[in-house]
Amino acid sequence: MAPKRIGILTGGGDCPGLNAVIRAIVRKSLPRGYEVYGLLDGWSGLLKKNFKKLDYPDVSGIIHVGGTIIGTSRTNVYKDEETIKEAFKNFKELGLHGLIAIGGEGTLTVSHKMFERGMNIVGAPKTIDNDINETDFTFGFDTAVEVATEAIDRLHTTAESHKRVMVVEVMGRHAGWIASFAGLAGGADVILVPEHDTSLEQVCNSIETRKKRGKVFSIVVVAEGASLIKDGKKISVHKSRVDDFGRHQLGGVGQLLADEIEKKINMEARVTVLGHIQRGGTPTAHDRVLATRYGAYAADLIHEEKWGHMASILNNKLTAVPLAKAVATLKTLPDEYWKLIQEFSE
Ligand code: F6P
Repeated sequence: MAPKRIGILTGGGDCPGLNAVIRAIVRKSLPRGYEVYGLLDGWSGLLKKNFKKLDYPDVSGIIHVGGTIIGTSRTNVYKDEETIKEAFKNFKELGLHGLIAIGGEGTLTVSHKMFERGMNIVGAPKTIDNDINETDFTFGFDTAVEVATEAIDRLHTTAESHKRVMVVEVMGRHAGWIASFAGLAGGADVILVPEHDTSLEQVCNSIETRKKRGKVFSIVVVAEGASLIKDGKKISVHKSRVDDFGRHQLGGVGQLLADEIEKKINMEARVTVLGHIQRGGTPTAHDRVLATRYGAYAADLIHEEKWGHMASILNNKLTAVPLAKAVATLKTLPDEYWKLIQEFSE
């Protein structure tokens, strides 16, 4: 009997730990007699029948390497009937028994819809933003937090020397996980997250209060998806460019914040936008282990034919969660963390 073929794709923004997931899937599936195909550049690999067979040498020496050896893109396979039909046709022509889609909110939502149309698919959650529901933590988040925390630590000394306000813009479209964890770990004085609107007055009051206490500098951490309230009006900053899912490219709220702080109080403010530095490079040991657990379990889900499920870790236990449940809402910051931020601001 011909070996069963399984496909893997990585969709959406890349993330440290993706290669560790791919490695785990391949190493778990080959001894079970599967052939593993990496569909190149996300869903686009299925649409263009662009793939690469993955054997042991392909996944050797990659556990510590950032990015994804099979490429990624924000291609939306569910954008119209013609594209969906093409995907199903190619799935059949490639002789795929099942597909593992490793992705964030966009990729997993589309995977759920493709499952509902009859595709043999399982998901594995991936995002540095840590906003996927029904799983404790996504791999890549820990690495991003480490990078952002180191940046905040470094900014402290220059902020103090120059008596400036340093605004650090971190990633986080819908959720302030990175801003909160890195901000708390780095001892930031103000943290702004997408889940809670903060007014310019509140930010400036915190900085002024610190000044009165003799602290001549402040560190403000802002998630790129956070909004700012100015004169009672909500300001959200984004670029005009949109992706295949209709999402605007973010970035710029940090600069706006720094400009407004300078206008309002007599202090110089500077901005550091961490951007893709948070997504690139070597995953932390924690993320490598987490990614390996997710990958090995996703391979089990394929083997057990648990189509329409996502490999999840709930209360630190591997669990199969229906994709429908995982994509129903986003995992935003729990109130407990927001309370902690309020207690430790200023
Ligand atoms: O992976 C999610 C994310 O990190 C968001 O926080 C951010 O808005 C987005 O990726 C940016 O990705 P790109 O520049 O690759 O479109």
